[in-house]
Amino acid sequence: MTRSHTPPPGGPAPAAGVAAVVVLAAGQGTRMRSSTPKVLHPLGGRSMLGHVLAATEPLGAGATVVVVGAGRDAVEAHLAEIAPKALPVVQEEQRGSGHAAAVALAAVPDVEGPVLLVNGDAPLLRTGTVAALVEEHARAGNALTVLTAEVDEPTGLGRIVRDTGGAVTAIVEERDATPEQRTIREINAGVYVGDATALRRALARVGQDNDQGEQYLTDVLGLLVDEGAPVGGVRAEDPDDVLGCNDHRELALRRRQLNDRVLDDLMRSGVTVVDPATTWVDVTAAVAPDAVLHPGVQLHGTTSVAAGAAVGPDSTLQDTEVGEEATVVRAHCVGAVVGPRVSVGPFAYLRPGTRLGPGAKVGTFVETKNADVGEGSKVPHLSYVGDATIGRGTNIGAATVFVNYDGVAKHHTTIGDHARTGADNMFVAPVTVGDGAYTAAGSVITTDVEPGAMAVARARQRNVAGWVRRRRPGTAAAEAAAAAEERAGASRSPSDPSGADDDQ
Ligand code: UD1
Ligand code: CA
Repeated sequence: MTRSHTPPPGGPAPAAGVAAVVVLAAGQGTRMRSSTPKVLHPLGGRSMLGHVLAATEPLGAGATVVVVGAGRDAVEAHLAEIAPKALPVVQEEQRGSGHAAAVALAAVPDVEGPVLLVNGDAPLLRTGTVAALVEEHARAGNALTVLTAEVDEPTGLGRIVRDTGGAVTAIVEERDATPEQRTIREINAGVYVGDATALRRALARVGQDNDQGEQYLTDVLGLLVDEGAPVGGVRAEDPDDVLGCNDHRELALRRRQLNDRVLDDLMRSGVTVVDPATTWVDVTAAVAPDAVLHPGVQLHGTTSVAAGAAVGPDSTLQDTEVGEEATVVRAHCVGAVVGPRVSVGPFAYLRPGTRLGPGAKVGTFVETKNADVGEGSKVPHLSYVGDATIGRGTNIGAATVFVNYDGVAKHHTTIGDHARTGADNMFVAPVTVGDGAYTAAGSVITTDVEPGAMAVARARQRNVAGWVRRRRPGTAAAEAAAAAEERAGASRSPSDPSGADDDQ
C-alpha cells in the first residue's frame, strides 16, 4: 500500500544538539479545573506532554527529564507508556518554574553543555522552531537563549525587555511588570536553551521576591545579564508555535490549530478534504494522496487511509487501516483492517480484530469483531459477526447472528468459500459450514454442515385451515379471509358467469 504519512510537526533534526531536554510539567494547571493533570489533556492524538516530547525528540538529547508534581502518578504512568526512556523527577512542592528547573538539573548532575528547558503546556511547538533556537544559541555562544514571539494578545505572559540596542536584558512576568512593560508585545515562550553550568549557578541565586512568591525560571536571564554572561532571544517564525494552554478554552483553540496544520499538510499532499471544519485527523494518522475525506470524519491513532479510498461522511476510525479504493460510509471502526475495494456501511461498527479481504462488503447495521471476511464475501445487512472466519466469495444472509458467547466463553465459527447462508440464521459456535454449502433461511445452525450440503434447521411449517373464521369471527381479518375464499371459489368455478373478473 502506498501511503503518505503526515509529516511530523517540525522539520529535520537540527545540526546543533543539546545534552538534555528538561520538560517542566509539575504545575497544578489550576485553570483547567480538572482532576486530570494539565499536561495529560489530549489533543490531535497525543497528550500535551506527548506533543512537547515529540517536538524535542529529534534533538537527540542524551537525557530527557520530566519534572512531575501535581498528579505525578498519572503523569509518570503516561510517561512510562509514551517515553519510557525519559526520566521523571519529582518536585515535591510546586515552588515555581525556577525551582522545577533546579530540581531537574540536580537529578542529572553529570550533564554539561546546552540544555533545553521547555514548559509542558506548549502543544504546538515544532521541532524546526526549537532547532532554530538551539542553533542560534550555539552560533552566538550564549549562556542562555530564550524563545520569544510577537503576539497581539500578550496578556498573562512574561514580557521580553530589550535595551535600546535590542539586546535582551530581562523577562518580566505580567503581574510584576510596570504599565510601560505591559505594552511590550514580545513575550517569553517558556522555551529556553542554557548552558548547564551557567543555569545551575544562576538557579541557585533565584529568589522569590515577586507577586506569587515563587522561584521564577525567567529570573535566570536577568541574573546572567548581571554577571555579564551573553544571553539572547530568538523570535519564533510562527508565533502560533509557542502558544501555551492554560484552560479548556485554550485547549479547544490549540486542538483546532493543530488540526488545521494536519489538514493543510494533507491537502497540500493531494488529499481531498471536503469540509475541513468538520474533519479531525490526529498527527499520528496517515492519509495517502487521492484519498477523499467527506464531512464529519475523525481519524485517530495509527489509522491509515490508502490512495483512492473514501471515508465518510460521519465516520470515526481508530487505529484502522483502510485499503486502496475502499469506501467507508457512516461507520465506527476500531482496530480494523479494511482491505482494498471493500465497501463498509452505511451504519457499520467494526471492532478490533476485524479483517476484511479485498472487495468484501460489510453493509448496513452490521457489527463485526475478531472476524475475518474473505475476498469478495458479503455481510450486507443487519448482522453480528463475532469470532468468525468467513472464506472467499461467500454471502451471509440478512439478519444473521454469529452466536459466539455461551455465557462463559467465546467460541469460533468458520464458514467456507462460496457458501450461501440464508437470512435470519444463527450460527451457534463452535460450528463450521463447509465450502459451497447452503443454509436455509431461519436456521439455527448448531452442528457442522459438510461442503455442498443444504442445512435446514427450523421447524416445518403447518397451516391450520379456517382458523381465523372459527376463532376470530367478526374481525376484519375474518372478513378479508372470507372475501378471499369467495374470490378463489368463484375463479375456480367455470360455470359461474361472473367469473374471475368479478371483483366488485
Ligand atoms: C510561564 C513563564 C512566562 C511565559 C509563559 C509561557 C515563568 C515564571 N513564567 O508562565 O514568562 O510567558 O510560561 O507560557 O516561568 N511548573 C513546574 N513547577 C512549578 C511551577 C511550574 O513544573 O513549581 C511548570 C508548569 O507545569 C508549566 C511551566 O512550569 O509547564 C510554567 O508554569 P506556569 O505556571 O504555567 O507559568 P506561566 O504563568 O504560564
Ligand atoms: Ca503556562
